Order: sequence, then C-alpha cells, then structure tokens
Amino acid sequence: MNWDEIDWSALERLRAGFIAGSAGVTDYWRRESDLASYDLTFAQRIGWKWDYVFRELQQRDWQPPAGTILDWGCGSGIAGRAFLQYFPGHAVQLWDRSTLAMRFAVSRLGGNATTGQQPCPMLLLSHVLTELSDAQVPALLELCRAATTILWVEPGTFTASRRLIAMREQLRDSHQVVAPCVHRQACGMLAEANARHWCHFFAPSPPEVFTDGNWARFAKAAGVDLRSLPVSYLVLDSRPQPELPASAVRVIGPARFRKGHLLVTGCDATGAQECRLTKRVLPEQFNRFRKGQTGTLQIWQRTGDEIIESQPAQ
Ligand SMILES: C[S@@+](CC[C@H](N)C(=O)[O-])C[C@H]1O[C@@H](n2cnc3c(N)ncnc32)[C@H](O)[C@@H]1O
Repeated sequence: MNWDEIDWSALERLRAGFIAGSAGVTDYWRRESDLASYDLTFAQRIGWKWDYVFRELQQRDWQPPAGTILDWGCGSGIAGRAFLQYFPGHAVQLWDRSTLAMRFAVSRLGGNATTGQQPCPMLLLSHVLTELSDAQVPALLELCRAATTILWVEPGTFTASRRLIAMREQLRDSHQVVAPCVHRQACGMLAEANARHWCHFFAPSPPEVFTDGNWARFAKAAGVDLRSLPVSYLVLDSRPQPELPASAVRVIGPARFRKGHLLVTGCDATGAQECRLTKRVLPEQFNRFRKGQTGTLQIWQRTGDEIIESQPAQ
C-alpha cells in the first residue's frame, strides 16, 4: 500500500476507538486494508518509539538472549520488524486476538515468522496494555515471567505509564530493570508526592515527516502532533546486568524552564524528585537542555535538590 491507497475512514474509526478506550472490547481489524493503512501511519510512529528504545539499549551494549521473539498483540507486526532491524537473525512468533492481524504481520515478516503464544526467551509488547482488562493481565504476566527479556513500549500517557508501572512492580523480583529505571526498588512515581506525574520520554520523529504532505494530512486526521512522540517503556531482563554508576539518574519528562533556572525530574533509587539546574552554575548543561540535546541517562551531583554537576552517563 502507498499513501494514495490509505483508507482514511478506517484510520478515523481506529483512532476513535483508541481515544475512547473502547479498542479493548472488540476486535477492530475488519479487513486487510485496515492493517495496511495502520502499518503505514500509526505503526510507523510506534516504530520510531522502538528505535528510541533500541538506540538506548545499543548505547548500553545490551544484547538480546538467543532464541525466538514473541510479539504479543502484534497488530501489523511493527515491533517484531523493528527488533530485527537492530538485532537480526531471530525467529519471530506472532500473536494477536485477530487472525487477520497475525496473517498480515506474518506476510510482512516473511520466512522467519510463525503464529502462536508459546513462552519465548524474548517478549515484545507494544501498545497493547491499555486494551487489556484487569482480568487479562495475570495470563500476560505469566508469559512475562517465563521470558528472559521483556521489551515493552506503550504510549507516553498518564494512564498507560501508570499501568506499565504496575507491571514493573509485579516483575521486579524476577527480573532486573535495564531501562528506563536505574534501580530495582519500588517505582519513585508511586510516592504520594508524585501522584500527578508519570514516567514518560520523547522519541524523535525522522525529519522528513515535517516536510511531507502525507504526514501533515495524517497528523490532521489523527489529531497528533508530529513533533512529539511521547513514550513509556520498560526493559526487563532476568540475566545479571552491568551496574550503573552510583549517581546515575534517569531524567523523566520535559525540563520546565524558569527565569535563570530549569526544573527537571530525576529518578534514582532514592525516588523521583524535581531538581533545579541554575543557568549561572551550569551554563553549558542549561543550554543543552534548552536545545533538547540532553540524554535522559545522566550522572548528577546534588546538594539537596540543586544539581551542582551533570554529565551524560553514556
Ligand atoms: C494498538 S494495537 C498495537 C499493535 C502493535 N503491537 C503495534 O504496536 O502497532 C493493539 C493490538 O493488540 C491486540 N489485542 C488486544 N487485546 C488482545 C488480547 N486480549 N490478546 C491478544 N491481542 C490483543 C489488538 O488486536 C491489536 O492488534
């Protein structure tokens, strides 16, 4: 399919279901063109979020375990395809409640793909959690516990992030948290003081989307801001992982700029807390934040909530 063949009314119907939160109730894939239209648009944006996560893992020298990947709730199969671009050579098992979706995803993946939901060393979960009822979660957690590695990407919304945090809390005994957390303690967002906040990041979109009329049309139809790709994610691994430096911090969400300083949320084993970076004290770092050039994994020295030294951790 190309942009001229997109079924815009199908995309509008899908979007309405995603927004209303009704997508979990019934299977919404009606025909192959629904999946092809989704694959060219919504799924590409999800693929860019996966790129963001895989780049982070590559910077950390993380390597997947050997064996098959299970892409559960595969839809058009973007997560499995994205994974193979970074870590080729794995067989992929695809599972979705929709046989139409599984068929589409298999055809896009070609030779190495089968269907089923047998436990696998690697489990990919992508934009599926908000479609599951509470009653469906325990079975998924069983699949998670059977996996060596779980790679989970969800929208960077309050609701999706909070649900993902609940999964993390259930799995942090059996698995190490590779990212985004720099620790394995209870999630700092669960503290009462952080009840309004959520764990999210921003993946970059490729520059061509800003000059391509097709993406402009999609953005209007889907009501999305092309500049912003909020993502919540979780990478869990039952294998021993290299230690991060003791003062490593994950920067969560956007920096908030004030006169002469900025406020930013840093998370480590002591919790997630708002810290202040003063322009006069750290002018270079302040400008890097201003230009969006700051990685989210940093090494900070702090006095109280004032950041007195900051450098990238990778
Ligand atoms: C928003 S789509 C995401 C598809 C794909 N993972 C992606 O990231 O593009 C959610 C998918 O989850 C599937 N799904 C919803 N509930 C499911 C369930 N209980 N079991 C398996 N798949 C489910 C839907 O059919 C749909 O394909």
